[in-house]
Amino acid sequence: RKRVRIHHLQEMKERGEPWPMLTAYDTYTARLFEDAGIPVLLVGDSAANTVYGYESSLPITVDEMLPLVRAVTRSVTKALVVADLPFGSYQASPEQAVATAARFMKEGRAHAVKLEGGRRFAAHVEAVTAAGVPVMGHIGFTPQSEHNLGGYRVQGRGASGDGLIADALALQDAGAFAVVMEMVPSEVAKQITHDLRIPTVGIGAGPDCDAQVLVWQDMAGLRTGRVPRFVKQYADLAGALTTAARTFADDVRQRSFPAAEHTFH
Ligand code: KIV
Ligand code: NA
Repeated sequence: RKRVRIHHLQEMKERGEPWPMLTAYDTYTARLFEDAGIPVLLVGDSAANTVYGYESSLPITVDEMLPLVRAVTRSVTKALVVADLPFGSYQASPEQAVATAARFMKEGRAHAVKLEGGRRFAAHVEAVTAAGVPVMGHIGFTPQSEHNLGGYRVQGRGASGDGLIADALALQDAGAFAVVMEMVPSEVAKQITHDLRIPTVGIGAGPDCDAQVLVWQDMAGLRTGRVPRFVKQYADLAGALTTAARTFADDVRQRSFPAAEHTFH
């Protein structure tokens, strides 16, 4: 199979074929997900939570993101790798956005970048695209603006749905190749998906988007405790790893590991 290109994602939209996207932050997951047929991998700034243990996505830096991006791009041969621009690394100006995107392309070897924001970031998207870097937009609930949006809540209900449609169109006009829609009513997501020529990628945006994305640790049940409503857990990795670690610990304490077959003479 050939490398996934942006025109392939566009063609899937035109054929009405939904495509999956997962986050990845390291070599094993990148390779496993690529082999499982995931065409697009996102090195999300959700790494703030899932890798670094911060309480939100705000603290993660470009210097913390870049090694993860490099690990993922080094590990795949086909998947399209999108790198999230972290909070504070692009908002100041279109020039700052271009400079940061260039670092992700040069040092991270990413194939595209993603940034959060609608109409107010159209100029940033346009500048990055003009510099030769494909941009994925991200609207609706945008975690980097958590404190401005009043916490984790659905965006675009009622009259504000029109604003969301305007945001999506502005990103398309600015040259974005796809738009993530997070926690928006499915009716609004369906309308935007219909109105846009470029693919929409839903997370908590209902079944009518052109693509769906989940954070892989949510998808595979590695995250414990309460998960958002939009998450479906396809495995219980937390349970599997806990059992494995407990069994290993018991074996060591009972001297039943290592056994003869694990031992050199
Ligand atoms: O950082 C991330 O993982 C994301 C996805 C949830 C879209 O932005
Ligand atoms: Na993100």
